[in-house]
Amino acid sequence: MREQDIRKLITAISALGLLMVVMVVAAISFVLLVQYQPETLSRWFSKTKKETTAEVAPVDEDEWTAERIEEVGLVQGEGLQLVLTNCTNCHSAKLVTQNRFTREGWIQVIQWMQDTQGFWDLGPYEEPIVDYLSTHFAPEARGRRMPLEVEWYSLE
Ligand code: HEC
Repeated sequence: MREQDIRKLITAISALGLLMVVMVVAAISFVLLVQYQPETLSRWFSKTKKETTAEVAPVDEDEWTAERIEEVGLVQGEGLQLVLTNCTNCHSAKLVTQNRFTREGWIQVIQWMQDTQGFWDLGPYEEPIVDYLSTHFAPEARGRRMPLEVEWYSLE
């Protein structure tokens, strides 16, 4: 073998070695990422997923007993858990239950709190929360009394 060929061979082997080192490092990084930062990974791979900081922590059962839920005027139903964990942090739950809004109205209230009161983005949880609120805290369809019955007479 000529000296030139040996040089070429050494260069090729070094390049191959370097490539393998890079691949091993990449593989280890990937494993570590899967292990410790799975959220980062899922964010990379699902670009459509809306980011949210909404609370989905389980409801504190000691605080939110059935009696307490009733006392503040909330009703059992789908979405209650999300309301308990997202709507009772800054103000009393009673502020929620004292109000009546349409679906659009509740969306506007949430938007207003997000724009001015530092309320977090609810992401995919906004829908079930708004469903719950507009189902149980909708404006009354009709006034409490029926309209007066008036007998009209013509003026002559
Ligand atoms: C980051 C804090 C924060 C969170 C969380 C929060 N709110 Fe509020 N909200 C406020 C503040 C501040 C006010 C104004 C309170 C006042 O006027 O005393 C308010 C007012 C309201 C009002 C009264 C609006 C009006 O027009 O008078 C309603 C209804 C309400 N919030 C519902 C909710 C609901 C439903 C949730 C959960 C989806 C929620 N809030 C979560 C901060 C928050």
